[in-house]
Amino acid sequence: MSQQIHSRRIEGLDKNIWIEFTQLTADHPVVNLGQGFPDFSPPNFVKEAFKRAINSDLNQYTRAFGHPPLVKILAKFFGKLLGQDIDPFTEVLVTVGAYEALFCFFQALIDDEDEKPVCGKLMTSADWVLDPAELASKFSKRTKAIVINTPNNPLGKVFKREELQMIADLCVKHNVLCISDEVYEWLVYDANEHVRIASLPGMWERTITVGSAGKTFSATGWKVGWAIGPKNIVRHLQTVHQNSNFHCATGAQQAVAEGFVKEFECLGAPESYFTSLRQELQLKRDRLAAYLASVGLKPIVPEGGYFLIADISAVKVDLPDSTEQPYDYRFVKWLIINKGLSTIPVSAFYSSDHEKGFENFIRFCFAKEDATLSKAEQILQEWNRAMLTQ
Ligand SMILES: Cc1ncc(COP(=O)(O)O)c(C=O)c1O
Repeated sequence: MSQQIHSRRIEGLDKNIWIEFTQLTADHPVVNLGQGFPDFSPPNFVKEAFKRAINSDLNQYTRAFGHPPLVKILAKFFGKLLGQDIDPFTEVLVTVGAYEALFCFFQALIDDEDEKPVCGKLMTSADWVLDPAELASKFSKRTKAIVINTPNNPLGKVFKREELQMIADLCVKHNVLCISDEVYEWLVYDANEHVRIASLPGMWERTITVGSAGKTFSATGWKVGWAIGPKNIVRHLQTVHQNSNFHCATGAQQAVAEGFVKEFECLGAPESYFTSLRQELQLKRDRLAAYLASVGLKPIVPEGGYFLIADISAVKVDLPDSTEQPYDYRFVKWLIINKGLSTIPVSAFYSSDHEKGFENFIRFCFAKEDATLSKAEQILQEWNRAMLTQ
């Protein structure tokens, strides 16, 4: 067959950083602080719930838009957090991970002829703040939706209430939808607070809030996520979902439902898993940050999430010049192949307009066992010693 067989729609999408760097990591013996998943186990109460689900024969199809026990508890849980009565059957959609929720949103609401993505920039100085004038200038008559992510991957920024209010005001003024990716919502450190944009006045009716059981219960392989929002938006996401995935594994949904039922009872208390996970990860964040600083990799201490980014500009590594790949990509490949440490290049997260500003940063995931962090420290220490003796 000599003619082109692929659709135009997939052109330019064949390269994927996660596929490329996961493969590179798999091909080399590495300590993996790259991809964002915990290498520790989910809590026993959700693992046991999953086993019980399988053993009690929850092995067949369930309701397409979400297993009833899960949508009910998500509506109750997020209803409380958002200060909103949420209908479990029309305002919650359970998806195959948060990714599917994002996919359904874009497929359901954005047309080919709509304006193409316009990227707002978080400044590298002054703690990654948005420039209000710059952001306002990006809104036009053709703006349909804004995508936000807080706590942010990869920067670790947690948007402040005033910043979210500024975004909300623009959304209301220009009648724009908002999709808010909040998969790291429980992982907010120090005195920072996670504010849900859907809870701000005028925002519930225009916002889809996206979450992930993978991040919430340290079970990324279960691929359970959700989209929560008003019925008139969620119904369009349901249309995409019912014609593609239909639903995700029944047993995993049951386990996540039981997990949320338990957490609902102890929300904010010391025995809550969300509380203990946050405390543990804050210690790991501080440990990694102190360590990176001691070997000359300048850490930017995150306010939330799984990741810490470090400035590599002070580290001199003799990499061959290349115009094909940004410096951080080449640096990360070098680190994997030569030092056995896997991280992620930060410029991969940015549009071509903005990636240049991030070529000197790499991302470390600190949601890892202490033993894994120790191995990473050992690699960095040996590398540092070798550099000092050069
Ligand atoms: C910001 C953000 N959104 C969504 C996802 C995907 O979540 P899930 O595994 O539930 O699809 C990730 C995964 O790393 C993420 O970092």
